[in-house]
Amino acid sequence: MKSNPQRWAAEYGQGGLPSSHRHTPSGAVVWAWEKIGTQQAAMKQAVDIGCGKGRNSLFLARQGMHVTAMDFTPNAIAALQHAAEVEGLSPRIRALVYDVTEGWPVAEHSIDFAIDTFCFKHIVGNDARDSYRDNLIRALAVRGWYLISFASIGDGYYGQYLPDASAPEGVIVDPANGIESVLYTRDRVVQYFHNAFDLVAERIKDGPDVQHGKMYNRQTYALLFRHRVNERP
Ligand SMILES: C[S@@+](CC[C@H](N)C(=O)[O-])C[C@H]1O[C@@H](n2cnc3c(N)ncnc32)[C@H](O)[C@@H]1O
Repeated sequence: MKSNPQRWAAEYGQGGLPSSHRHTPSGAVVWAWEKIGTQQAAMKQAVDIGCGKGRNSLFLARQGMHVTAMDFTPNAIAALQHAAEVEGLSPRIRALVYDVTEGWPVAEHSIDFAIDTFCFKHIVGNDARDSYRDNLIRALAVRGWYLISFASIGDGYYGQYLPDASAPEGVIVDPANGIESVLYTRDRVVQYFHNAFDLVAERIKDGPDVQHGKMYNRQTYALLFRHRVNERP
C-alpha cells in the first residue's frame, strides 16, 4: 500500500507538520553531517529520500554535495526547484517527482550519503518497504552513509492515535490530514536494516514541539548507518 501524493499536496498547502513549512535543515541532518566529520570531504553524491520542499537537499548542496532529491508530491518538488534556483544551487540539485518505492534513478553504488527525514515512516506495507530498502542498498556506495529519522511509537502526537500499542505494524492515520504513518520502535528500525548496515551513531530527541498548531511531547530518533561491505547472512 502506498501513501497518497494528493494528501501530501494538501498537507503542504495547510502546513500542519513541521517539515511542511520549515526552511532550516532538519536537526538530524546537521547532527549526522557533524558526526561524519572529516570524512565529509570524500562525499560527492547524495540522495534525499522523500525530500519534501527540500530543506535538507539545500543544506547538502550548500556543503558542496550533488543531490538527487525525490518526492512523489509535485508541489513540494516545484518548491524545491524554485528555492534551488533562487540560491543558485540548481546545478547541484536534481529534484524529481518520484515514488521512492520504485527503482531509483541513480547509478548502482554511486551514492555516498542517503538521507531520509520522516519519509520511511509513511511507507506502509511490506512490499513497498522492502522495495525502498532494496533501492537504498543498490544505490549506496560501499561504506556509504544512511541517515534515517522518524517519530517513534512513544511520540506524543502520533502515539495518541495508536488504539493498541501492541497492534501489529503500528500503523496509524493522522486525522488532521489522512496520511498514514508507521510508528516504529528504535529496535524495529535497527533490525530492519541490520543485514546490510552497521549502526554507527544515534540520537533521541524528546521534548515539546508544535504539530498542527498545538504543542506535544515529540519523540524522534535519528539513526546513522553505514553500508556494510558484506551483507550478513
Ligand atoms: C514528513 S514529509 C518530510 C519531508 C522532508 N524529508 C523534510 O523533512 O522536510 C514526508 C515526505 O515524504 C514524501 N513521501 C511519502 N511517501 C513517498 C513515496 N512513496 N515516494 C516519494 N515520496 C514520498 C511525502 O510526499 C512528503 O513530502
